[in-house]
Amino acid sequence: MPSEAAFAGGVRPFRHALVRRSMLLLPALLMVASSIAQSPAIAEPPQGPEGDAIRRGKALVTETRARLPDHVGNGLNCTNCHLDGGTRAWASPWVGMNAAFPEYRARSGRVISLQERINDCFERSMNGKALGWDSDEMNAILAYMRWLSNEGWAGKPVPARGFFKMDTRMKPDPVAGGKIYATACAQCHGANGEGIGNGQGGYIFPPLWGKDSFNLGAGMARHFTAAAFVLKNMPIGQEGSLTPQQALDVAAYFTQQPRPDFVRRLNDWPHSAKPVDAR
Ligand code: HEC
Ligand code: HEC
Repeated sequence: MPSEAAFAGGVRPFRHALVRRSMLLLPALLMVASSIAQSPAIAEPPQGPEGDAIRRGKALVTETRARLPDHVGNGLNCTNCHLDGGTRAWASPWVGMNAAFPEYRARSGRVISLQERINDCFERSMNGKALGWDSDEMNAILAYMRWLSNEGWAGKPVPARGFFKMDTRMKPDPVAGGKIYATACAQCHGANGEGIGNGQGGYIFPPLWGKDSFNLGAGMARHFTAAAFVLKNMPIGQEGSLTPQQALDVAAYFTQQPRPDFVRRLNDWPHSAKPVDAR
């Protein structure tokens, strides 16, 4: 496997690609570069088979589309949403995940394992196929998450699980959201949500709708979940510049754009009422 040698090397190909694009998008790139500069304080794993699995797990979640083409049906990597290698509070961090599961999930209507939760994101957020629950790849991802949850995370505590809790009594205005999208998001994510490619089938700036985006069964396709992500994490370099209402409006705009369907979403929430924003 190439490029797994340097543990912190995950951002390097990204940075090269950014430099090539720099004539086009200089202001946006400067902001992204400054956010990458605050690289996560993930300790170097030990030598030996477990360390190798942790390194491989990190490579799989940061370069998911390129490394697992049979399991990824869109243009995304796990860490396009689980930011900073899964260590960013309010971006659904993975610190502590191994202890949190098995857990009851209302969407599934039963107690599920961490493997099943990871596969939910493979099938929905990545619009792809589940990994074998006992495959080397799954075990590598689990090893990486356990590393983050124990001695591997040398940074500050990551207090927040999941996403910020939005007030679900708020009313979204997708028309206002379209205007926010054009001024605050389109320069990176494209006028038609198509993102900006890296020339190798992946993306420098990931798409927000269309064939290479997450599907209708994904948590990010729900406008309150998407708003919570955007409120705390976007636009990159200007995080926190949107009000909760603006984040909700822009989320209502981009979640409603065309994207792949996920037929099994019709079986979601078997024992409880579907949330208002579920698709
Ligand atoms: C398009 C954005 C997106 C991508 C890409 C994505 N996820 Fe997620 N992930 C989410 C959202 C949203 C949730 C929370 C959903 C909810 O609870 O409503 C989540 C939840 C999770 C959780 C559970 C977190 C918790 O606190 O319970 C795990 C573990 C996870 N994802 C792993 C992965 C892995 C591994 C990948 C890559 C194979 C991945 N995700 C790709 C958006 C994404
Ligand atoms: C300066 C460039 C930039 C701007 C402006 C920006 N984003 Fe992003 N966005 C990114 C990058 C880069 C990522 C992936 C982060 C990573 O991989 O670490 C991302 C990821 C995302 C994701 C999760 C991944 C996906 O493709 O679904 C969503 C949702 C998102 N942005 C929404 C928005 C919205 C809404 C706005 C406007 C309010 C916005 N972004 C503005 C650069 C930007």
